[in-house]
Amino acid sequence: MAVKTRFQVIMMMITVFLLSSLCIALGTKLKVVGGSGPDLRLRDAESNKVRITVSQDGAGDFKTVTEAVNSIPQWNNRRFILYIAPGDASDPPTITGNDTASIVGRNGKPIGTFQSATVAVDANYFLAINIKFENTAAHWIGRRGEQGVALRISGTKAAFYNCTFYGAQDTLYDHKGLHYFNNCLIQGSVDFIFGSGRSLYENCYLNSTTRKVASITAQKRTNSSMESGFSFKNCTVTGSGQVFLGRAWGEYSTVVFSYTFMDKIVLSQGWSDWGDQKRDLRVYYGEYKCSGPGANLTGRVPWARMLTDEEAKPFTGIQFIEGDSWLISP
Ligand SMILES: *[C@@H]1O[C@H](CO)[C@@H](O)[C@H](O)[C@H]1NC(C)=O
Ligand SMILES: *[C@@H]1O[C@H](CO)[C@@H](O)[C@H](O)[C@H]1NC(C)=O
Ligand SMILES: *[C@@H]1O[C@H](CO)[C@@H](O)[C@H](O)[C@H]1NC(C)=O
Ligand SMILES: *[C@@H]1O[C@H](CO)[C@@H](O)[C@H](O)[C@H]1NC(C)=O
Ligand SMILES: *[C@@H]1O[C@H](CO)[C@@H](O)[C@H](O)[C@H]1NC(C)=O
Ligand SMILES: *[C@@H]1O[C@H](CO)[C@@H](O)[C@H](O)[C@H]1NC(C)=O
Repeated sequence: MAVKTRFQVIMMMITVFLLSSLCIALGTKLKVVGGSGPDLRLRDAESNKVRITVSQDGAGDFKTVTEAVNSIPQWNNRRFILYIAPGDASDPPTITGNDTASIVGRNGKPIGTFQSATVAVDANYFLAINIKFENTAAHWIGRRGEQGVALRISGTKAAFYNCTFYGAQDTLYDHKGLHYFNNCLIQGSVDFIFGSGRSLYENCYLNSTTRKVASITAQKRTNSSMESGFSFKNCTVTGSGQVFLGRAWGEYSTVVFSYTFMDKIVLSQGWSDWGDQKRDLRVYYGEYKCSGPGANLTGRVPWARMLTDEEAKPFTGIQFIEGDSWLISP
């Protein structure tokens, strides 16, 4: 269900930090899907919901998302639902910023990629529907410090439906935890989906804006015991430039694309070991039943995996993110 649009508000230049274990949903009715039911914390949170409206014209409970979020107590364990209305009825509500890694922070040092996020979510059970997260920083090829994160998700059990993530370098910091993305548009130039999360991206549109050669993902699984990896199912890969599907930020970097349409921008090699051949034997880069000119397997690096039905199975359902216990229908 779409976010209500009876309030006129557009959030400009704000950074929202959700620091406690608070539960935020942007949406309406929540219902559990899957067999085993939700975990207990989630069940408690859902039975005790609070609704807040954000409206810049003063018609809602708060004028900015920041104020609304600040009103939620630390260590909150109830479900808070924020309704944010768009500034323009035809657009989704947009949360925008332009910080980059090289911006100087209060301590006189560059803030770094981690702090550049327009929206940073450290809370568990975050849920966003129909929100546009944006970092408008430009990306100049070859210049350092231009990373500008639109959204960083560090909490676990987070879901995003019909959301847009716009940025250039490092758009979506899929930092850590279990995450689900459905029907989202993610756009960027370099490593625009990166981090150590364990995430399922379903029906998403990955749009490259690079002018040269770049990688879509930089997945950071650093050891074999770490449960981390990105799975893209029924997605579309398109845009400009030439792209690798992934490059190995971590030695055990794990990425699988299944049932995905790949435009001609995908390089025939498919994957990059980031110049470290040790990683060739350690990374897990798989493809399964993809289509389109970029999915032609001739020319793939020898260590790319063409998955069998059995090998693909763990990656192609919500079991990949233990979704049975926490994924609630929006
Ligand atoms: C997402 O958008 C589609 C239309 O593109 C709509 O059918 C669907 O209900 C929306 N999902 C949510 C969770 O709002
Ligand atoms: C970033 O946004 C701020 C606040 O709106 C603005 O003053 C600044 O000029 C912007 N910087 C760039 C590089 O666009
Ligand atoms: C695959 O993705 C497309 C586009 O997002 C969507 O229309 C279609 O329903 C999806 N198919 C399945 C089986 O989910
Ligand atoms: C995808 O990116 C290209 C530039 O590479 C842009 O022209 C196009 O509008 C983008 N598509 C969407 C759906 O935003
Ligand atoms: C694997 O990496 C994670 C995250 O950096 C760390 O917490 C864990 O201790 C590591 N495990 C081993 C066996 O090195
Ligand atoms: C895949 O690419 C190779 C080499 O460019 C080409 O010979 C072959 O016809 C392509 N296969 C398909 C199915 O397009």
